[in-house]
Amino acid sequence: MDIEITPGGITDVDSLAPLWMAMVEHHRAVVAGRVPVRPAPDAWERRRREYVSWLQDGSGLLFLARREGADEVIGYAMCRLLPSGPTFDLGPVRGDVESLAVSPRARGAGVGTALLGAVRAELERRGCRHWSISVAADNADAVRLYERVGFRPLVHMMHAPLTG
Ligand SMILES: CC(C)(COP(=O)(O)OP(=O)(O)OC[C@H]1O[C@@H](n2cnc3c(N)ncnc32)[C@H](O)[C@@H]1OP(=O)(O)O)[C@@H](O)C(=O)NCCC(=O)NCCS
Repeated sequence: MDIEITPGGITDVDSLAPLWMAMVEHHRAVVAGRVPVRPAPDAWERRRREYVSWLQDGSGLLFLARREGADEVIGYAMCRLLPSGPTFDLGPVRGDVESLAVSPRARGAGVGTALLGAVRAELERRGCRHWSISVAADNADAVRLYERVGFRPLVHMMHAPLTG
């Protein structure tokens, strides 16, 4: 498939809804009832507000994937520019890939890899020296992709429910 990656802006955010909601459903399947997952429309409403605010304040970088010559967005990556914390010296600003989603029909055809390549090129152009991505521990397919791109585990977030 010939894939076209372009930068996106606030006016593109609404077109991300189906891709985001498909990713929420994918997470629901991955955690298999062990962690509550919000209904996809609620999750989208929250995320949409965040995307708009990140794009408004300049901390968000959005990339859109389309089949060459087509209008439909079949995947996207949202990356944030974040200050590095006090312990790990990741440079003044690191890139954190907040979301990577590809439409279920288009998965496995190189779209996610192309989106990560575009994010990486932009971060390097801006002088970032490190980037990160979070992934559910059980999302083995995504972990395999991220390791192929060069990511390695750094922090394990551990979770437990608190029940009376
Ligand atoms: C993860 C995801 C963004 C990867 O995009 P993609 O376009 O399918 O990936 P590519 O075609 O560039 O690379 C293929 C690799 O992606 C990974 N992958 C993850 N989920 C996959 C899926 N459902 N189908 C195919 N490949 C998948 C595999 O490592 C695969 O490599 P393999 O050939 O060794 O199996 C996409 O599959 C997706 O949206 N999955 C559901 C949501 C999700 O898990 N998002 C990541 C949250 S951290």
